[in-house]
Amino acid sequence: MLKYIVYRTKTEFTKKYAELLAAKFRLPCLSYEEATEKISHGESILYMAGIRASKLYDIKKAMRRYNIEAVIGVGMSASSEQYKKEIIESNLLNQMPFFYLRGGTAPEKLKGFDKLLFSTIANMTKKSKQKDNKKISDEDKKLVDAFFTGVDYVDADNLKPIIDWYSSYLIIQDMIGKKYKK
Ligand SMILES: Cc1cc2nc3c(=O)[nH]c(=O)nc-3n(C[C@H](O)[C@H](O)[C@H](O)COP(=O)(O)O)c2cc1C
Repeated sequence: MLKYIVYRTKTEFTKKYAELLAAKFRLPCLSYEEATEKISHGESILYMAGIRASKLYDIKKAMRRYNIEAVIGVGMSASSEQYKKEIIESNLLNQMPFFYLRGGTAPEKLKGFDKLLFSTIANMTKKSKQKDNKKISDEDKKLVDAFFTGVDYVDADNLKPIIDWYSSYLIIQDMIGKKYKK
C-alpha cells in the first residue's frame, strides 16, 4: 500500500506538485535525500522527479531501493502522448503507471553541468527560432523566454488524472485486502 510521496527536484517544480498531491492524498511527502534516511528499503512509494535530457532524476536508484507504485515525471515540454511514450521508453518504466506534469524553468537556480547544458540548449533553440531573419512567432518567443528568463507552468488542475488513478488504486487495494482477510 502506497505510504509516501518521494520527490527528486533541482529547481523545486516537482516539490510544488509533490506538496499539492501530499495534501490531497494525506500522505507524507519527502525529498529523495530525506527518504534515504527515513524510509526503509522496499517501502511502497509514489516517485516524482524532474526530467533532464529525457531521463528522470535518480530513477534507477529509486527503483532499486523502493517498491514504486507509480512514477510522475516533471518537465518543461508540453504534454503529449508521444512525449509520455518517449519518457516511458527512455527510463524503462515498462508497465508502471506513469504521469507527466509540466513544471517550469528557473535558469537562475541551475548549477554546474545542468547550467551549462541548459544554456547550450537555450542558445541552440534561440538560434533555430531566429533563422532567416523572419519575425519570431509569439509561441516561439514564449519558448525562448522560458529558456532565458524562466517560466512556471505548475497548475493544480494538471493533477486530475493522478487523482483519478489514486482513487482507483485505493479501491483495488481495498478489494485485495478484503480477499486476503477471508
Ligand atoms: C539540463 C536540463 C535538461 C532538461 N531536459 C529536459 C527534457 O529533456 N525534457 C523536458 O521536458 N524538460 C527538460 N528540462 C526541464 C526540466 O525538466 C524542468 O525545468 C523541470 O521543471 C525540472 O524539475 P525540478 O524543478 O523539479 O528540478 C531540462 C532542464 C535542464 C536544466
